[in-house]
Amino acid sequence: MTRRRQIYEGKAKILFEGPEPGTIIQFFKDDATAFNAQKRGTIEGKGVLNNRISEYLMTRLGAIGIPTHFIRRLNMREQLVRQVEIIPIEVVVRNIAAGQICERLGIEEGTQLPRSIVEFYYKNDELNDPLIAEEHITAFGWAAPPELDEIISLTIRINDYLCGLFMGVGIQLVDFKLEFGRVWDNEMLRILLADEISPDNCRLWDAKTGEKMDKDRFRRDLGGLSEAYQEVANRFGLMQEIEEVPDNVVDLKAAKSKDKKSDTTKPDGTKPDNTKDES
Ligand SMILES: Nc1ncnc2c1ncn2[C@@H]1O[C@H](COP(=O)(O)OP(=O)(O)OP(=O)(O)O)[C@@H](O)[C@H]1O
Ligand SMILES: [Mg+2]
Repeated sequence: MTRRRQIYEGKAKILFEGPEPGTIIQFFKDDATAFNAQKRGTIEGKGVLNNRISEYLMTRLGAIGIPTHFIRRLNMREQLVRQVEIIPIEVVVRNIAAGQICERLGIEEGTQLPRSIVEFYYKNDELNDPLIAEEHITAFGWAAPPELDEIISLTIRINDYLCGLFMGVGIQLVDFKLEFGRVWDNEMLRILLADEISPDNCRLWDAKTGEKMDKDRFRRDLGGLSEAYQEVANRFGLMQEIEEVPDNVVDLKAAKSKDKKSDTTKPDGTKPDNTKDES
């Protein structure tokens, strides 16, 4: 077996060199962090679930003409994607008030926003991913004005589509974070949706009960983390194939018993060293 070269290890994923130039492999870990990595833990089976959920959402978005980095899923924890030059901006869309905006503007959690709000954060862990304005993005050259226009218009389409997709399975899409990147295609610079879309970077509330089905369960010690992520996969009809896989990449039954802090072994047999933070 050939050893793959590791490019980067983040808080939730490890990136490896892909089989062809311009491709990379995303390996989804069970590690979870919050509050700029001041809080760390493991959600058993999260990597498997996020890999599958992100594949599903990226594929659905691709089908409506959103250009994404996704190529194909390789196995339970890995997917092949196009390597992009990540634009160092986190694009957050808010439909209902939750999280930071509540403290910042004194809005009660759960308040329906007058319209969907797009925010930008500078992707920089040392600075704690600060909130920025469009002006900062273009003034500092993080994205050119036409790129930013493209990012905003893609983001609005993604939000409209995902709101409907989630509502169709009884889930409110409260807010979520996107990352975009650049690729050269036939001498043309294009913007692609990158990273992942999963309950790690979305707030998802059950439409009937208001129950949280996302990483807020970890942030707030609500328990039932694996179950919540599984329920999201289940609503989209993705659980059956995950449970059918005979290997023990994830033992969902064991995960059901308890969300506990446990150790994670990387694909090369070593233990991950998480020194960076949040998302
Ligand atoms: N298609 C892609 N090409 C290159 N890099 C990518 C691609 N998709 C995602 N990434 C980057 O890979 C990393 C994913 O790992 P992870 O989500 O664990 O990172 P993270 O801990 O959130 O770190 P960061 O602060 O860098 O986002 C991120 O830095 C993300 O920007
Ligand atoms: Mg991340």
